[in-house]
Amino acid sequence: MKIAAIIGSTRKESYNLKIAKHIQERYRDRFSLDILEIGDLPFYNQDTENDPPEEVSVFKKKVADADAVLWVTPEYNGSISGALKNAIDWLSRVDQVMIGKPSWIVGASMGALGTVKAQSHLRDILFAPGLSSPVLPGNEVLIGSVHEKVNNEGKLVDEATISFLDGAVNNVIHWLEKQFVVHN
Ligand code: FNR
Repeated sequence: MKIAAIIGSTRKESYNLKIAKHIQERYRDRFSLDILEIGDLPFYNQDTENDPPEEVSVFKKKVADADAVLWVTPEYNGSISGALKNAIDWLSRVDQVMIGKPSWIVGASMGALGTVKAQSHLRDILFAPGLSSPVLPGNEVLIGSVHEKVNNEGKLVDEATISFLDGAVNNVIHWLEKQFVVHN
C-alpha cells in the first residue's frame, strides 16, 4: 500500500516530521510512506491553476498516485498552518486529486491538547466539495506535549504514544483494505 504523508510544518526540526518518520520506519513492512514537500509550493493563485508551476504538478501527481494521504499537522493559533492550507487549496482544484481518496490525520503540538482544534478544522476542510476525502471516524491521534516524547536524536520514545499509534495504524489499515481499492 502506498501512502503519501503531508506534513503541516515546514521547519527542519519539526516534531510532526519526526512523528511521520517514526510512522514511516515502524510500519515499513505494512505500507510505504512517501513524505512530500510542501514548503516549496508557491501561494495558490487561481490565475495559474490550469498551468501551475512544476512543483505543484509534481506534488499533485504524487498525491494522485497514493492510495491514501496521511496528514501530520501542527496547530497554529488554533488551526492548521497556512502552508498546509495552501497545499490543500492546490489539491482541491482542476484535477481534484483528493476526491474519494481516504485520509488519516495525526497531529503533534507542544500544548496539552495535541492539535485537537487543528484536526477538527482539517476534517471539515477535507469534507469540502473540492476535496471530498473520507476520514475514518474516531481514531484521532492527538500527541500533546510532544517535546517531552521525542528524544535529542529526534526519535519518538514515549511508549504510550508508540503503542497508541500501533492501534491507530491497525484501525486505518483495516479500514483502507475493507473500504477502498489499494495497491498490494
Ligand atoms: C504554535 N504552537 C501552538 N501549539 C498549540 O498547541 N496550539 C496552538 O494554537 C499553537 N499555536 C502556534 C502558532 C504558531 C505560529 C507557532 C509557530 C506555534 C506551538 C506548536 O505546538 C509548536 O511550535 C510545535 O512544535 C509546532 O509543530 P512542529 O513545527 O514541531 O511540527
